[in-house]
Amino acid sequence: MHFNIAVLPGDGIGPEISRQGVDVMTAVCEKFGHTVKYEYALCGADAIDKVGDPFPERTYEICRDADAVLFSAVGHPKFDNDPNAKVRPEQGLLAMRKRLGLFANIRPVETFKCLLHKSPLREELVKGADFVCIRELTGGMYFGEKLEGTERAYDTCLYTRPEVERILRVAYEYARRRRRHLTVVDKANVLASSRLWRKVAQEMAPEYPDVTTDFMYVDNAAMRMIQEPTYFDVMVTENTFGDILTDEGSVISGSMGLLPSASTGESTPVFEPIHGSWPQAAGKNIANPLAQILSVAMLFEYFNLMEEGRLIREAVNASLDADVRTPEIQVEGGAHYGTKEVGAWIVDYIRRK
Ligand code: IPM
Ligand code: MN
Repeated sequence: MHFNIAVLPGDGIGPEISRQGVDVMTAVCEKFGHTVKYEYALCGADAIDKVGDPFPERTYEICRDADAVLFSAVGHPKFDNDPNAKVRPEQGLLAMRKRLGLFANIRPVETFKCLLHKSPLREELVKGADFVCIRELTGGMYFGEKLEGTERAYDTCLYTRPEVERILRVAYEYARRRRRHLTVVDKANVLASSRLWRKVAQEMAPEYPDVTTDFMYVDNAAMRMIQEPTYFDVMVTENTFGDILTDEGSVISGSMGLLPSASTGESTPVFEPIHGSWPQAAGKNIANPLAQILSVAMLFEYFNLMEEGRLIREAVNASLDADVRTPEIQVEGGAHYGTKEVGAWIVDYIRRK
């Protein structure tokens, strides 16, 4: 097929990992006879500096008109330390999610055999962990009514029935294609919005008799995830809970630099690593490009190009097995590979296959 890809490198380590993702995408397209055209667009702190808006209209148009967006990371410390900043890089990411209607964020948590020891959890606990967190991405406190006073402030966690229903459908469809076990994570013992989630899920469950549905409070889920991560197959949850739980999930894999994600919804899908812009590492060629590269695998799989996705995953696994790894996951005494070198090794593997 022909791909029009919007590339949003963003801030910090974003441009470095973006380049590796693009190179892998190009190599896979060449291999399988697809054609691809990239259009680069500004976002985040970079866009604020250049045009004063973290998600400029032009970027929106480029994303809207593309087949998929390859997104890297946004965020810069000069905004983090200024509570009075009028505009923040993160607003660019939120604007992108809202304007593209990306209500479903798919975050797989997998382990890699040779990296089991990198997890701070005991190897026998994380071995075999393989679940997907489906995070609702355009509702809840992130987008609800807010008040930001000096004496009073609030964020509203608002969900409507159609919003809950559509994300639960995505989760049920995922569960059907996996081990048919769906865990709805909420805080229904305290929150009204959670009770709506639970009610809608209970009504929908009979439509999916082949899927086992269970319910778990988010505090309990946070504990269960590290106590028995193999319990989960597909979990679905609201925006803020999903944000928190997926950072926790990355610990299971051993490095945040390993986890990709896909955000899908009403318009162009976006593929991005779950990690942030790691400004301290920018320009040092030490960031792990694997989360970005695995996001490219998810991109192909979204278009049902499963062989393409599989080859990327095979190449990633081969690089890990060959100890071609960035410093945070390198074995003791192992050679040092940078972002570029890991990316180039994977591209080379794909070409030679
Ligand atoms: C994520 C990030 C974002 C979020 C930030 C950067 C706004 O943490 O994608 O998980 O909170 O959703
Ligand atoms: Mn997050």
